[in-house]
Amino acid sequence: MTLLGREIILGVGGGISTYKSAELLRRLQDVGFGVSVIPTRASLNFVGSATWEALSGRSVDENLWNNVHEVPHIKKAREANLIVVAPATADLIAKISNGLADDLLTNVISAATCPIVLVPAMHPEMWLSAANQENVATLRRRGLLVIEPDEGRMTGEDFGVGRYPEVSRIITEISEFAKINSDLLGRKVLVTAGGTREAIDPVRFIANHSTGKQGYAVAKAARNRGADVVLIAANSSLDDLPGVRTISVSSTAQMADALDKEFSTCEILIMAAAVADARPKSFSSDKIKKSNYQNIELEANPDLLANISKKRSGNQVLVAFAAETLPLNSERVEAAKAKMKHKGSDLIYLNNVGEGAIFGADETAGLLIDSNGESIECKNQSKDTLADLLLDRALNKLR
Ligand code: CTP
Repeated sequence: MTLLGREIILGVGGGISTYKSAELLRRLQDVGFGVSVIPTRASLNFVGSATWEALSGRSVDENLWNNVHEVPHIKKAREANLIVVAPATADLIAKISNGLADDLLTNVISAATCPIVLVPAMHPEMWLSAANQENVATLRRRGLLVIEPDEGRMTGEDFGVGRYPEVSRIITEISEFAKINSDLLGRKVLVTAGGTREAIDPVRFIANHSTGKQGYAVAKAARNRGADVVLIAANSSLDDLPGVRTISVSSTAQMADALDKEFSTCEILIMAAAVADARPKSFSSDKIKKSNYQNIELEANPDLLANISKKRSGNQVLVAFAAETLPLNSERVEAAKAKMKHKGSDLIYLNNVGEGAIFGADETAGLLIDSNGESIECKNQSKDTLADLLLDRALNKLR
């Protein structure tokens, strides 16, 4: 699966060490990157496109003049979250430091705004040459990471600095440089978002003010930390999140079905959705006339979280939300703790949504209560920040 927020372009230069980038590509995939390879023409003398296509599972092109109508160099530069050039030859380093752009790779690099990493590999004489050292210094000054080559045996009998670095060191340096957080890698995170709707007749329904912003923020944060994310979204008008599998639902019953299918394989469930507590006892297939619209008989919806938590296994963490319209006094906090217990969740985020607060806003304020008795107050912070906090806490409990 392509994890957005984790899209890499692997630029491949031409040298005897080009084959080592096949291993690098694999290790980048292991840390959750979707990798697209752009080789230089010279590099194809060493390793052909078929290798890159097979390993990356994506088509490979080095030609600037293919698919010109799609303006591929700009498109690729915008889609990339990181560019790694390995091996970076003296020629590529010189071109990049001078802003030259005469093939697809160098054009993408000129247009890119994401972090760029160069992995030089060449003979010691070339690495230490005055021109190359000045180019490397220029690139480092501009904020690119130029990894130090290893010292050791070269092609033939030569020995010195210039070897393609160990792949594990490249991965460590890249992760530190680009602040890549992979702490949720390989874990499945299930998120519900939005508000469920209960149809009264073909025209009307019972709904609530939830827009899905908090749930989407959690899904995005989990995706960016390497998780496999499934988002059950109820009636949200927010844009789909690339790299997140979204299941669109409308009613509480549909959300219950989707939860049933996805729950057993998830490790973290975040129930951010505002679930309708009741639905009309009967659905009228014809629009109800206003003369008969004085009373709608309701029946209770099942409590999705309370029900699903009965099916939980030992290695799952559940997070609930509690929306109140009263000040968050000690009585409210005790009620939230009781709610957390009743619903079988490990954490609950209590927030006051009275007077139009929080629904649809970019910021949130509330109290995150842990079943171990701890609580953290969140004072007007972005929903993205809360999303990371919820995931931090959930992951801690999982461990
Ligand atoms: N929830 C649920 N199923 C419901 C209602 C709520 O799974 N039928 C979930 C919500 O997704 C949320 C949590 O339970 O994570 C708390 O929802 P809230 O509306 O605050 O609690 P209620 O159970 O509805 O209790 P009350 O409204 O009486 O306070």
